[in-house]
Amino acid sequence: MTNDLLNLLNQRRTIYALGKDVALSDSEIVDLATDLIQATPSAFNSQTVRAVFLFGDKHDQLWDIVVKRLKSEVPTEAAYEKTKAKIASFKAAHGTILYFTETATVHQMEKDFALYADNFATWAEQAQGSSQLNVWTGLANNGIGASLQHYNPLIDDEVREAFNIPASWTLRAQMPFGSIEAPAGDKDTLSKDDQFKVLD
Ligand SMILES: Cc1cc2nc3c(=O)[nH]c(=O)nc-3n(C[C@H](O)[C@H](O)[C@H](O)COP(=O)(O)O)c2cc1C
Repeated sequence: MTNDLLNLLNQRRTIYALGKDVALSDSEIVDLATDLIQATPSAFNSQTVRAVFLFGDKHDQLWDIVVKRLKSEVPTEAAYEKTKAKIASFKAAHGTILYFTETATVHQMEKDFALYADNFATWAEQAQGSSQLNVWTGLANNGIGASLQHYNPLIDDEVREAFNIPASWTLRAQMPFGSIEAPAGDKDTLSKDDQFKVLD
């Protein structure tokens, strides 16, 4: 038995302490992530995942949008100070990948395959998860850390306007990535007896 994939998957962790010092060029990161997303399966090969890669000023602009938008959502000044520090840690990263679902394709599939109509929205989410995991793991394989954030839908309108996002694309996640400045924290794992059943 080979454990290469398991070892690689275990290398992928949520990294919050991110910096700008990555070994790959921006175009290598884009090539890697786009190849990984295209290698990811989707229901009926519907290919509903879209991604936008933000570097430099565009990356900074995203996190400025988030911190500004959260101001009215956070109840106290003290809580907002904490929020600002957290968002600053994402801005300290090298770049961000925005993940979108192409909803026009989802709705077309619902019409074209009426028998499965109820499934396409869920399947689009599953394709998101699969794509995000593959990119997250592929970055880890190159010594690049990342985390997965969800400031959608709060930021959807401003992101759409700032980055000229098509109307049919719906924001599903934000993945800041960069050099690993501190390791991931400990993580609990359920006992296999609680989590799985083997029947024979
Ligand atoms: C679907 C999904 C949504 C997540 N959303 C967030 C999030 O909004 N913010 C965050 O900091 N981490 C988020 N995470 C990261 C999880 O908290 C993390 O993966 C989990 O605690 C296991 O830790 P690990 O990634 O280091 O293995 C998300 C992970 C998944 C798979």
